[in-house]
Amino acid sequence: MRIRQLERLGMGVFPTPFEPMPRLQKELGGPRLFVKRDDLTGVALGGNKIRQLDYILVEAKKKNADYVITTCGVQSNWSRQTAALAAKMGMKALLVLRTAQFKTKPKVYDGNILLDHIMGAEIKVIDMRINEDPTPILEEEAEKLQRKGHRPFVLGLAAAVSPLATAAYAYGFIEMTQQASAMRVKLDAVFVATSAGPTQAGLILGAKIMGLKTKVIGVNVGAYSTERIRKVILESSEGAAKLLGTRERVREGDIIINDDYAGEDYGISTKESIGALRLVARTEALIIDPVYTAKAMAGMIDMIRKGEFEQGQNVCFLHTGGIPALFAYKEQFQPGR
Ligand SMILES: Cc1ncc(COP(=O)(O)O)c(C=O)c1O
Repeated sequence: MRIRQLERLGMGVFPTPFEPMPRLQKELGGPRLFVKRDDLTGVALGGNKIRQLDYILVEAKKKNADYVITTCGVQSNWSRQTAALAAKMGMKALLVLRTAQFKTKPKVYDGNILLDHIMGAEIKVIDMRINEDPTPILEEEAEKLQRKGHRPFVLGLAAAVSPLATAAYAYGFIEMTQQASAMRVKLDAVFVATSAGPTQAGLILGAKIMGLKTKVIGVNVGAYSTERIRKVILESSEGAAKLLGTRERVREGDIIINDDYAGEDYGISTKESIGALRLVARTEALIIDPVYTAKAMAGMIDMIRKGEFEQGQNVCFLHTGGIPALFAYKEQFQPGR
């Protein structure tokens, strides 16, 4: 297995821990359970985007940008992690944040948007859903900054689904399987919260590069259709494979996306996701987030309870972070609820 090593900022802290979850395993009575802690990627409360932006923002550094402009929802992990790396690189961040699932502008800053503000990001909240494209607004903001003599770097939504974001998770998969094999563990399946798709795409490509049959099960969190996610996975993994210099390719048949746990909509919790969040907190002191990882965890727990894995098989949950959003959803976790 020989692949190209791409340039990175080196601001994330890797490898992230890979740990067993014995008490959750006992509770569920199925396969052996592990967690890959990409909630601990080392910068501003971590998450999967730090692993990706560590490669993506190399271009901003090379262009000597003084501003990075990006967009997502008000409780966006992508925006928080961009603001964090921008601060560490000595750049300003301008975040165009959409009201998305909250529908109204926040009266009090909480969770991710609070951290964005504390880290010095400039914030513009606009009334827009998560699956609408605000790219023209980013271009407009960039022009305004240029007129003031700044050197903005526009980090559009395309970056979040780029071959680089995917390549980062091919490396992530390799890191995880090396940790597993040091513990004499061969992973049969990995669960991941899938939204736009590149994290899952990278994991699948990583498994191919390693020549492993590990199933990568993406649990759709409800922002995009499975069809669109599949398309992103095929396209971004094709680009990532080229960047990494491998002949391996992700094919239609390699993609497993489970749509059963998305619930009503993106950002709307389900009874099962709230239950899953509480269960892993109580058994493993593992804090997950309500928007992404709780739905993926609900999927993993349900599939184990339905007997889809055998005892002795090894199943890993990729914790992709997102924890700050929990505080913006605090009402649903109050005593008596
Ligand atoms: C916490 C968390 N988990 C999972 C994902 C999904 O990643 P992807 O967009 O690569 O599917 C995201 C992306 O927004 C996220 O913030």
